[in-house]
Amino acid sequence: MSMRDLSVLRTKTVEAIARDAAAGEGDGEGSGLRKSLRTRDLVGFGVGIVIGTGIFTLTGIQAKENAGPAVVISFLIAGVVSMLAALCYAELASAVPTAGSAYTYAYATLGEVFAWIIGWDLVLEFALGAAVVARSWSGYLADLFDLPPSLFTEESTVNVGAVALVLVLGVIAAVGVKESARVTNTLVLVKVAISVFIIIVGAFFIKKANLIPFIPSAEKTTTEVKTFDQPLLQWIGGFEPATFGISGVFTAAAVVFFAYTGFEAVANLSEETKNPARSIPRAILIVLGLCTTLYVLVAFVVTGMVKYTDLDSSAPIAKAFDANDASWAGTLIAIAAVAGLTSVTLVDIIAMSRIGFALGRDGLLPQSVAKSSPRFGTPFRFTIGTTIFVAILAGLVPLTDLSEMVSIGTLFAFLIVSIAVPILRRTKPDLTRPFRVPLSPVVPIISALACIYLMLNLVVATWARFLVWLALGLAIYLFYGRRNARLAKAQTAEPTVTGEKTLG
Ligand code: ALA
Repeated sequence: MSMRDLSVLRTKTVEAIARDAAAGEGDGEGSGLRKSLRTRDLVGFGVGIVIGTGIFTLTGIQAKENAGPAVVISFLIAGVVSMLAALCYAELASAVPTAGSAYTYAYATLGEVFAWIIGWDLVLEFALGAAVVARSWSGYLADLFDLPPSLFTEESTVNVGAVALVLVLGVIAAVGVKESARVTNTLVLVKVAISVFIIIVGAFFIKKANLIPFIPSAEKTTTEVKTFDQPLLQWIGGFEPATFGISGVFTAAAVVFFAYTGFEAVANLSEETKNPARSIPRAILIVLGLCTTLYVLVAFVVTGMVKYTDLDSSAPIAKAFDANDASWAGTLIAIAAVAGLTSVTLVDIIAMSRIGFALGRDGLLPQSVAKSSPRFGTPFRFTIGTTIFVAILAGLVPLTDLSEMVSIGTLFAFLIVSIAVPILRRTKPDLTRPFRVPLSPVVPIISALACIYLMLNLVVATWARFLVWLALGLAIYLFYGRRNARLAKAQTAEPTVTGEKTLG
């Protein structure tokens, strides 16, 4: 085998990707996914994965610790950054419909090693996302039914509630995407309805005094802050640790960015969509527009209902209603949170399994674990395997240690997607693009810079963990994927079979 065969920068052609998606030719029997989804289902999936722990819990914590009522602006900033990345996703997903989304776009543009890193990063995002949300689901459930904290909350050694939720949803995801879509669509309606309810009913309890000052002035942190707990930007710049003020608004934006993560999972369902060129961009933009509007309004109402210094850290929204003598509404919200968080966990598991499917199809993971089951039309084995991994994480690892990891992983993927748009325009100018990012390359470049800026606002510990995860992924690629990739094998056997080319 020549050096060329093992080039880490070899790319997969758009034609080869489209062929794989259309027929699953690459792996022979059983590799195709069933095409059953429409725009409505995709919006259901998107909202199902996006509205969750972010709005139900982070709003309170970030208003209290970093931004005050200006957490509304933080949600707006994070929403705009997500929208910029969403435009890039929409262009790539409409031009290259594939289950791998960002991973596959990187394969077509930047080269195999970048593609693998993104795929590895996305598995992390969705696995940890599912684990985080399952834990917060468990906490809400305990709150609602007075269940023992030692088994259901952050006080537990093994969070039994979170483990049970992940296992049940893992089986649903493995059995069929259509069935999963039905479950999430129902839960999504509950979640959107309760958000509207919070905005309308909560508006009656807003007191102007609670919203003043809107951006509390910056305060120096009085307790000692360890390097690992400082935002990277603050640490690099040697700034004194502080909260609130304008920088607090940005720190909160980086954290509440978590609330938007997941919309890109819609792009992972391209191969299972009847008309992906039309449905995927529409669904992504509808989901994000809807969520940004709801988040900004909910954050405004909640910080208007209770002084930011008095907001609760675990169930801020329900407690805000309790504080205004409307505990009936608080209970209703807790019920909706339990339902809503269920759908986030489910869609996270589905998205994770679709990325595994794409990695396996390209030979970067063993195909025996990642191919689609002829009986269920889903990547059954991979789904079950990763579900067990998520269940272990959900059972044992604290929620707070995991949630920032999801943000950094997602921002990194958005960064690569933003860069991929202008590259693909240059390398494949004739490709049909049913949706085009306006003002390219300006918008993709702004999107990339905005992602980097938010990443720099995350703490040093998150960066360290993220780099360890990427290093582990790189090692797996060098020892397994690089040799076993379909591109490597095709080049050795017959270079033209799948239409690949090498750049390196
Ligand atoms: N965006 C999802 C949430 O807020 C992960 O829970």
